[in-house]
Amino acid sequence: MTGFPRDFVWGVSTAAQQIEGAVDADGRTPSIWDTFAHRPGTIADGSDADVTCDHYHRWPEDLALLGELGVGAYRFSTSWSRVVPEASGKPNAAGLDFYERLTDALLERGVAPVVNLYHWDLPQWAQDEGGWRDRDTVARYAEYAGIVAGRLGDRVATWSTFNEPFEHCMLGHVTGEHAPGLTLPLDEAFAVAHHLLLAHGNGVRVLREAGAASIMSINSYAPARPASESDADRTVAALYDVLQNRLFTEPLLLGAYPEEVAPLVEPFVREGDLELIASPVDRWGVNYYAINAVRAVDGPIPLEVVAPEGYPRTAFGWAVAPEGLGEVLRDLGDRYGDALPPLVVTENGCAYDDVVDEDGRCDDPDRVRYLSGHLDAVAGAIEAGADVRGYFVWSLTDNFEWAEGFTKRFGLAYLDYTTGERIPKTSFGWYRDRIRAARGGEG
Ligand code: FCB
Repeated sequence: MTGFPRDFVWGVSTAAQQIEGAVDADGRTPSIWDTFAHRPGTIADGSDADVTCDHYHRWPEDLALLGELGVGAYRFSTSWSRVVPEASGKPNAAGLDFYERLTDALLERGVAPVVNLYHWDLPQWAQDEGGWRDRDTVARYAEYAGIVAGRLGDRVATWSTFNEPFEHCMLGHVTGEHAPGLTLPLDEAFAVAHHLLLAHGNGVRVLREAGAASIMSINSYAPARPASESDADRTVAALYDVLQNRLFTEPLLLGAYPEEVAPLVEPFVREGDLELIASPVDRWGVNYYAINAVRAVDGPIPLEVVAPEGYPRTAFGWAVAPEGLGEVLRDLGDRYGDALPPLVVTENGCAYDDVVDEDGRCDDPDRVRYLSGHLDAVAGAIEAGADVRGYFVWSLTDNFEWAEGFTKRFGLAYLDYTTGERIPKTSFGWYRDRIRAARGGEG
């Protein structure tokens, strides 16, 4: 096997809202996703995240799976409304205890915890106070970040401030497909974007004060191709590239908004904001799933994202295009040069209609093919000079896939939602062996 340095970090990623369940246990209060999911018509199968994988209670089983896989790192997120359940800002000791137990158990097994502070699950109380439209939410995030860092900072080396602010901003605040389900005009959504970025900057400050060794932000990237050769499609593809691939990247790396959107964000920017947003980070998290095609449509949002023609598709309808990952990794280096920290692929994976057969086995050759192709693309990018330090599969087990509910299975292990049983799929064994081989055969 070529391409992977021996100290390359192999991992899997999860998110609190998608796996924990136990939404009212030990003082936790609702997040915006709990509220949203309980609103009729929001989730494809009418489900909610009240129980999902019940990881809050069954985490030892998930930890055992991580041990079997042999990953070196596990990326999870902390639930803000578990840690700070009320607007008073008072920390919830029981919530912190949970993350501490998990962290300690990971460390005991030699698995490095990678803690993400925000994966789309704003507490409902913070939404009621204005949510991300409101600049005050930035200060509330900093308080929360300080509380988590205060408890775990002596043990957790690697942190991330946010997961995919682009999706959270646009799907949650413009198209309304995600919580909190707002449909703001694009120019108001730039307030949300700026406040998310400013919260990131504050998060970096707070984490540094707590002694964090390695901090990253995590963005999703997808090459944006015009759906046709028409001028209209080319124009919206270029706009989409700015929004998805540059809006949440350039303020951090270059200290400036892309010029195409700068005038729209301007009204929300105060002196000193951009300096804080551009606080240096140590790693650059890249989530990659697919290449997108973009076409022009009439309406308040002038574009539509579709799967490009000519590729196999996952059960989500997303194009299987490993070369897009190589392109993203190389393009980041080309675009930002020395300003770019070392890269980590913090999410990559696929949904297929997995089933458990009569013998209790779940065979998922499509996922093996997908992951294998994408790992080859990472190896190719490294050989071409990209500085990639790790790769995390999304996800350890099937889980609550946001607006898709339980209809999309992304796990290396199948989740039987009736019994809660975790059943490793073929891809689980494949990933375990691949990690072992890349490490030179040692267990
Ligand atoms: C990403 C999200 C993650 C998961 C995957 C499939 O955009 O970060 O939570 O839903 O997509």
